[in-house]
Amino acid sequence: MKKVTVTASLTYDVIIDNGILDRAGAESAKVIKPCRAAILTDSNVAPLYAERLEKSLKAAGFSPIRFTVKAGEGSKSAESYLSFLNFLAENQITRTDCIFALGGGVVGDLAGFAAATYLRGIRFIQIPTTLLAMVDSSVGGKTAIDIPAGKNLVGAFYQPSLVLCDPKTLDTLSKDIFADGCAEVIKYGIINDKELFKKLKSPINSQIEEIIERCVIDKRDVVNADERDVGVRQLLNLGHTAAHSIEALSHFEVSHGSAVAIGTAIISRAATKLGYCPESDTKQIVNMLESYGLPTNCPYSASELAEVALRDKKRNGDTINLIVPFGIGNSRIHKIPVTDLEGFFAAGL
Ligand SMILES: NC(=O)c1ccc[n+]([C@@H]2O[C@H](COP(=O)([O-])OP(=O)(O)OC[C@H]3O[C@@H](n4cnc5c(N)ncnc54)[C@H](O)[C@@H]3O)[C@@H](O)[C@H]2O)c1
Ligand SMILES: [Zn+2]
Repeated sequence: MKKVTVTASLTYDVIIDNGILDRAGAESAKVIKPCRAAILTDSNVAPLYAERLEKSLKAAGFSPIRFTVKAGEGSKSAESYLSFLNFLAENQITRTDCIFALGGGVVGDLAGFAAATYLRGIRFIQIPTTLLAMVDSSVGGKTAIDIPAGKNLVGAFYQPSLVLCDPKTLDTLSKDIFADGCAEVIKYGIINDKELFKKLKSPINSQIEEIIERCVIDKRDVVNADERDVGVRQLLNLGHTAAHSIEALSHFEVSHGSAVAIGTAIISRAATKLGYCPESDTKQIVNMLESYGLPTNCPYSASELAEVALRDKKRNGDTINLIVPFGIGNSRIHKIPVTDLEGFFAAGL
């Protein structure tokens, strides 16, 4: 068992342990007095894991009820959000009750935003079931839904009371969705964890608990230092400026993890071409991404990428913060004029 404590506006534990799903009730009862438990899950995860969670919650004295959304990003919508709020109200969930998010990042973000806003805030517990959700979205308190104008445009910073990661649940993930999570794992290595990057040269499955712990520690450190994303937390956006453009240009046909892999390859190649990053590091980065079955070539032009990126919410007036690797384990926030962005991308294509 591994435990990482996050000390943001709320202090909470992230527990990583094989089989913890069946002890979720007992672990939750240590931080929340047994109450009504509104489980939000999706149509793929529910048949696999919801009954086990319910059984364990009941055994610990909780009274679970379940709301299932259709699997996929489409459920991070205003419609699902309102339906879930209605479900909570109709079932008379009160401020002393709790929401449980059982699923990937979609369920976690939606449950978290509902928890942040229902009755002006009720407690919630994250039980992530994708690698991406374990190493990234379930920790740190960013919650959101999408609106037609863009992804994650409505949300709140709202920390969970507990995060329970059961690496055993990853066994049922498809290869592609597992690889998506690997892109974010590799990202932590490039940002500031050379040791992690080295570990990834051996197969990830045999050391998965340790790898998840390492990523959660890396995320915890930036979240503790900068919960509201105005400083070092921006480092987590490595590869994400181009990635968001690629996702949008492909109408979300390219998955987030694949887009992050391509974005990371672009920024690393650009960093080498512009003299910031040794060529051997960029080679290792691209090889590492490819060894995890991730793409590194971009189907779009620099001008297409830049045009979409400059419409994104991360722009601050006339400059944009890019996260640039100066070497593996040494990425920095690099402020550039918006007019230089296309050239940066062009250097990396
Ligand atoms: N809040 C944050 O800080 C943060 C960070 C990164 C990403 N995100 C968000 O996370 C979302 C992506 O998360 P995701 O990649 O987990 O996507 P997801 O939640 O859509 O899950 C991917 C797919 O895997 C299925 N699935 C989940 N667990 C499974 C399991 N154990 N076995 C079999 N199938 C399973 C899901 O049903 C879905 O079809 C995006 O909406 C993104 O914006 C949020
Ligand atoms: Zn990401």
